[in-house]
This record gives sequence, C-alpha cells and structure tokens, in this order.
Amino acid sequence: MPFLEVQHLTKDFGGLRANSDIAFTVEQGELVGLIGPNGAGKTTLFNCISGLHPVTSGQIIFDGEDITKLKAHEVARRGLARTFQVYSAAGDLTVKENIMVGCFMRTRSRSRAKARASEILKDLNIDDLSDYLVTELPVSAQKRVTMATAIGSDPKFLLLDEVAAGLNPNEIEGIMASIKHVHDDMGITVMLIEHVMELVMKISHRVIVLDYGEKIAEGDPEAISKDPRVIKAYLGERYVREHGVRSADSTE
Ligand SMILES: Nc1ncnc2c1ncn2[C@@H]1O[C@H](COP(=O)(O)OP(=O)(O)OP(=O)(O)O)[C@@H](O)[C@H]1O
Ligand SMILES: [Mg+2]
Repeated sequence: MPFLEVQHLTKDFGGLRANSDIAFTVEQGELVGLIGPNGAGKTTLFNCISGLHPVTSGQIIFDGEDITKLKAHEVARRGLARTFQVYSAAGDLTVKENIMVGCFMRTRSRSRAKARASEILKDLNIDDLSDYLVTELPVSAQKRVTMATAIGSDPKFLLLDEVAAGLNPNEIEGIMASIKHVHDDMGITVMLIEHVMELVMKISHRVIVLDYGEKIAEGDPEAISKDPRVIKAYLGERYVREHGVRSADSTE
C-alpha cells in the first residue's frame, strides 16, 4: 500500500478549477518533486493534502487512513507536516521558540519542547540562529526555520513549498543538503514544490508536473526534462539548452 495516495482530487474556488482530477501515489522513503508554472495548482494541492482546504471531490489516503475530511491539525498529528510558501512567523518569537511551537504538537512539556528544539537546531546546523527573532533574519535563514519548525512536529512525511525560492546558489546548496539530511538521515518521506530546477531535478526520485490544475506528466527527472509536453508547458527550450543551469521560472 502506498504511503500517500491521492485519488481523483478536484478543488474548485468558485468557477476556477485549481486542481482537476489529480491522482498519484508516494511510497514511504521517496523524495518526490512537484513542478509546474505559476498558478498551476501546486500549493493548492498541498493545501488540500494537509487539510487546510476542503477538497471539492476526491480522496486522500495517508498511511492507510482516509484523511480527506480531517482538519489541518489532525493531519499534522498523524505525521504529515508542511511548510508554507509565504512564511508568516510570529514576529515576537525567536527561532528556537518557533521550533518549539512545532514540538508542542508532540509534547506539552516546555522543557521537553525546548530540548527537542535544541536538537533540531543542531541537526540542521542552525544553532547559531537560535536566539534571533525570525523576522530579523534574511529569507534564506527563514526558510530553514520553517523546515525546522515542521520537523519539530516529528513528521513521517514532509511537504515543502518552495523552500529554495529567492536563494542564491550557495544558499541553494545549503538548503539542498538540509533536505537530503531530512530525507536520508532522518528517514522522512519528502514531497517538494520547487521552481529551482537544479535543485528539484537533482534530488527528486520522481517528478510530478501540473499545468492548469491537471497532472500532465510524472516520471524520473531525466524523462521529465525531455518530455515535450513538460518543455512546452513549463521548462522551455532554454532550460533544455542549458540543462538545468538556471531555474525555469520563478515567483520572485
Ligand atoms: N484561496 C484561494 N481562493 C481563490 N483562488 C485561489 C486560492 N488559492 C489559490 N487560488 C487560485 O488557484 C490557482 C492555483 O494557485 P496555486 O497557488 O495553487 O498555484 P501554484 O502552482 O502554487 O503557483 P506558484 O508557483 O505561483 O506558487 C490560481 O489561479 C490561484 O489564483
Ligand atoms: Mg505555490
């Protein structure tokens, strides 16, 4: 049985169909990329899976359980965590306190949450940021904090929404190492939305492509980067020519 199974998922906002009859599965231990042009419905799909938006129709099965109708905190409690594309940290919380918010999903003890947050800070190599207010930090560091906070809830499955957007090549290397660490060493299954092609094509086992709310392709990065339909909808001739030297698109 797949770890995550999405069946016939459709999401309408009034007259707009943001997700149209989407189906895919993710196996435990996989690292799956989700790409597509701006407005293709990627974040909406994460919002539906993580219980933030009710689906219009379709089913979401996670770890053997139908989670379609669960609320966001119920989904998170089952071990499916996510980060947000637009990060809204509480202004008066430090990095460590932010991560503790994630940890409170699993414990009521302040000292235990604090200890776990310290471990995560070390583990993600950001313990030097511990006492800064999140809002004081550059965007690259904020992205790492959003990942760290999600990890605080001790997930089995992590949805990452554009954690590399707006970062320079060095910072992209850094966040890529963090994602690999989370996946390879912490054993967390990962699905990531990303416009930075050199990241998503490098680390994904499999890539799913959305366009106008529909899944138009799915396959290994090599096959996806050569798929004429994906090139036309998203990657563009330029990416193919430069083969991943630049991102295909950016929201920045
Ligand atoms: N809460 C909402 N209410 C109404 N329309 C929405 C809502 N959220 C998203 N949409 C619309 O749904 C479509 C898909 O948006 P979504 O944010 O999922 O795209 P995306 O693939 O994540 O794009 P990007 O790469 O720019 O982040 C867009 O047309 C968007 O305007
Ligand atoms: Mg988005």
